[in-house]
Amino acid sequence: MMKITIIGCGSIGKTLARYMDSEDYIDSISIIDRKKEVVEALVEECQKVKYVNNLEDAFEKSDLIVEAASQQAVIEFAPKALEMGKDIVVMSGGAFVNDDFKEKCRILAKQNGCKVFIPSGAVCGIEGIGAVATEEVEEIILMTYKPPEAFKGVKYLKKKGIELDNLKRPKVIFSGHAEDAVKYFPRNINVAATLSLAGLGIERTTVKIVVDPKATLNQHRIIAKGKFGEIECWTRNTPFPDNPQTSYLAALSLISAVKKIAGNFWVGV
Ligand SMILES: NC(=O)c1ccc[n+]([C@@H]2O[C@H](COP(=O)([O-])OP(=O)(O)OC[C@H]3O[C@@H](n4cnc5c(N)ncnc54)[C@H](O)[C@@H]3O)[C@@H](O)[C@H]2O)c1
Repeated sequence: MMKITIIGCGSIGKTLARYMDSEDYIDSISIIDRKKEVVEALVEECQKVKYVNNLEDAFEKSDLIVEAASQQAVIEFAPKALEMGKDIVVMSGGAFVNDDFKEKCRILAKQNGCKVFIPSGAVCGIEGIGAVATEEVEEIILMTYKPPEAFKGVKYLKKKGIELDNLKRPKVIFSGHAEDAVKYFPRNINVAATLSLAGLGIERTTVKIVVDPKATLNQHRIIAKGKFGEIECWTRNTPFPDNPQTSYLAALSLISAVKKIAGNFWVGV
């Protein structure tokens, strides 16, 4: 039986908790969130879910800590959990774009005999990218296609004088390294970060961001070329109805990750 702690009771955290509530290998689900009331509402509908505010105690009693909150939460909680020898699953992988923080967590995990898991999140093809990155890869490109609404308030566009109103056809609004893409388009940070962490790193991953006035879904196209051949992988994501920033697939990838960690038989590692 497994005890888990989930940090973050938003779209992803709630989806995971509801699913895990009926899994027979799950003993208890402790949830930490700044908003106590959202956890309390979930407690009403689930059997195994409980609200916790004593972090240390919750971590101590857990077999696995799952972050589904924010990059700030990763910075706050990941080192603590790793120091306590707990495996962690991180959804806000953008936190590891900072090399010093990534290295700190890697060393803590090594010293304390535990692991950091980063699910594939809102994209498919990450396992293939990990595989080809063990050899020479010529290039890895991420192309993201989103509707104009997804870029409301992005300062970079204002600075560059890019107008998205009355757009008639798709327009490339960014082309460059993932390092700059995550800086200028922080809402896209997790997909670019996951791809970079699995593949060639943030400085050698190319990102193109396209605004498509006809788009209704958030789409990601990953292209990789090398001696192995070529990978081209499209993911067309339905967002959560109440949270258009987050794709439903991201929550499903987290469920799948926790099931793999809890089980003894992994496919597509
Ligand atoms: N890896 C991916 O592909 C991918 C895809 C989608 C979302 N994400 C990331 O996953 C995370 C969760 O996404 P979501 O859509 O469920 O978010 P959400 O906004 O629906 O929910 C986040 C919850 O976490 C809580 N929270 C945030 N920071 C906290 C902190 N420091 N301490 C305690 N509680 C805190 C908030 O109160 C909120 O209830 C986000 O960081 C998001 O960027 C990753």
